[in-house]
Amino acid sequence: MSWQDNTKGKMLHLQLPTDPRWVDVAKMNLGDILVDHAYCEQKAASSCISLIVRFPELEKLVEVLTPVVAEEWDHFERVMGQLKKRGLPFGKPRKDEYVLRLQSFILKGGSRMEHLTEHLLMNALIEARSCERFKLLWKNLEDEELREFYYELMVSEAGHYVNFIDLAKTYYPKEKVEKRWAEWLAHEKQILKEMEIRGDRMH
Ligand SMILES: [Fe+2]
Ligand SMILES: [Fe+2]
Repeated sequence: MSWQDNTKGKMLHLQLPTDPRWVDVAKMNLGDILVDHAYCEQKAASSCISLIVRFPELEKLVEVLTPVVAEEWDHFERVMGQLKKRGLPFGKPRKDEYVLRLQSFILKGGSRMEHLTEHLLMNALIEARSCERFKLLWKNLEDEELREFYYELMVSEAGHYVNFIDLAKTYYPKEKVEKRWAEWLAHEKQILKEMEIRGDRMH
C-alpha cells in the first residue's frame, strides 16, 4: 500500500488534525523544532531496537523492524546535518509530554503479546502524527531543502505506520487490535486537545 492510499483523506486515521497555528509557530522556531525532531528520530530508532531485543523469537518482527532502525538512524543523522549546516547547537532533550502521556495509556499486566500489541499501536500512532506534522512542514516551510527533506520523511514515516499496524495484526487477533486501536486514537485526540501549541516541539 502506498503512502497516498494510507494518508488519503484519512490522516492515517487520526481523529483530530493539528491546529494550523502549530506550523506558524514552528516556522519561527526552526532551530528548536530541528532539535526536538532529532530526539524524536533517536527515540524511534531506540524503540525499534528495544522491540527487537525483547522479542527475538518473533521472526517477522525482527525482519521488518531491523531496516526501520537503520532508516530512523539515518533520519537522525540527517536532522543533525541540518542543524550543523545552520550553525545550530544540538540542545538538550525536552520533556516529551506527548509521548509520556501516550505511555501512560499502555495497559499494565496482560500477556506478552498484549504488551507487544500496546507498544506496536503506540508506535503506529506516533508515526501517524509525525507523518501528519511532516506534511504540514513540507507544505508550509519556505526553505526548499527542508521542504524536500520533510516530504521524504513524511513518506518514510507513513511506511513505518503501516509496518507497526501490520505487525500488531500478525501477533494478536485482528478484531482485538482494531478495537484497541480505536481506543488509542480516541486517547491521542484527547491528548492533542489538552496540550498547548508549542513551536519548540514536533508533537
Ligand atoms: Fe523517522
Ligand atoms: Fe518512523
